[in-house]
Amino acid sequence: MAERRYHIDDVLITPRQLERRVDELAREMAAGEHSDNLVVIGILRGSFIFLADLVRWFWLNKMQPRIDFMIMASYGSSTTPEREPRVSRDCTIDLTGADVVVVDDILDTGRTLSKAVEHLAAKGPRSIRTCTLLDKPARRVVPCEADFVGFVIDDDFVVGYGLDYDGRHRELPHIAKVTFLDESAAD
Ligand code: IMP
Ligand code: MG
Repeated sequence: MAERRYHIDDVLITPRQLERRVDELAREMAAGEHSDNLVVIGILRGSFIFLADLVRWFWLNKMQPRIDFMIMASYGSSTTPEREPRVSRDCTIDLTGADVVVVDDILDTGRTLSKAVEHLAAKGPRSIRTCTLLDKPARRVVPCEADFVGFVIDDDFVVGYGLDYDGRHRELPHIAKVTFLDESAAD
């Protein structure tokens, strides 16, 4: 990606709002959940802060998951203009008969999450549910909805709480919008 000038706007979602919503999400997920084979799989790298907070609320809701991670990488090539995600680091826990919860930072075009679910479904879990902190439905290309959504947001590029722009700004304790100063420049 070409370097673009940008600035980070004011807070869009505060740390307090994040904390409250993550607490609620864990309660929603706990309702009716009595699995003794619960596996939470975070999609790296964007989900690492969200997942770390979420599973601590799991404890309060008496859910005792095993936790694993997978890395999805996106391909681009001259022959396929679409970014095609693939698994670049697989989870290693045996998912046979497991009740899986896949956790991602943001649902954008839907390619990453749908590919991750397709990949994990082949491992023989009993169930797969999906959870995303943020959802940008306006950007969807592949039909894909998450079972649990933290916040629905507009079609803006956001950073913080694990989400990056060009590898940076994951450490922000809040979510902020990125404003690009040279919108005319090519991506
Ligand atoms: P999808 O495959 O288009 O749904 O993209 C999902 C991935 O794109 C996420 O896991 C993020 O890594 C990245 N992404 C999409 N939108 C944003 C954003 O607004 N900020 C930061 N990363 C984003
Ligand atoms: Mg990312």
